[in-house]
Amino acid sequence: MSKSDDLAALIQRRAGAEPPEYGLILGSGLGHLADSLDDGVAIEYGDLPGFPHAGVSGHVPKLVIGTLEGRRVAVFGGRAHYYEEGRADAMRLPLEVLASLGCKRVILTNAAGAVRGDLEPGGLMMLNDHIAFSGANPLIGETDDARFVPMGDAHDPEMRAALSAAAQAEGIALPEGVYGWFSGPSFETPAEIRAAKVLGMDAVGMSTVPEIILARFLGLRVAAVSVLTNMAAGLSDEAISHDHTKAMAPAGAAKFEKILRRFLRDGGA
Ligand code: HPA
Repeated sequence: MSKSDDLAALIQRRAGAEPPEYGLILGSGLGHLADSLDDGVAIEYGDLPGFPHAGVSGHVPKLVIGTLEGRRVAVFGGRAHYYEEGRADAMRLPLEVLASLGCKRVILTNAAGAVRGDLEPGGLMMLNDHIAFSGANPLIGETDDARFVPMGDAHDPEMRAALSAAAQAEGIALPEGVYGWFSGPSFETPAEIRAAKVLGMDAVGMSTVPEIILARFLGLRVAAVSVLTNMAAGLSDEAISHDHTKAMAPAGAAKFEKILRRFLRDGGA
């Protein structure tokens, strides 16, 4: 058995064997959702050998499996980032475990800075594409031909359509856009953000893209939503900081939770 199968067996002994319908990975300041599940069984990452530390403040390093709006979900309360140890595949094992649990779909969230003028701090943006501007890739070193993952439809059209419909039903704006992945942990410079704009990035952040690549590699369908916590560097007078990200994220997270609940209630995708 692979390591992920072993961990999946451990998780199933504690949380039951029924496969989760959705996996969720929560970004900075979005961890609250992990505590909102009915009958949630929580397992600390520390109890899952090989799981990342995920110790960035604002993240909750635990896996919670339970029910949300009548659907079984597996919520990862925190992620590990490329900038923590220089490993773009830091979230590979959690995603492999999700696949070993029999889960086929994953929804990723993150905090991001808005680049496009019509996007607002406190609001959301659903990713319709991305640019891996960090230059890293979580599949470097992989030897199987499966590493040549097509990315043309990486952001699942059906999941996006259902999330859009749920947002509309809730009266919450969910514009779509292109997410640019910078390595972090320093924020971008104003010149980098001007370049990002020219390159077609609508929002920028330090996560998520490696997880999208890994999810597709593992055959999981994936959609991702950014919580916009600030205008990106140079676009507003407001100072950018991780404290600000953590303070702003809950407003957007509350909107995301409403959309997610409606999406699940209405049958998902
Ligand atoms: N840049 C990168 N990551 C971020 C930002 C930002 O402006 N805001 C929140 N996460």
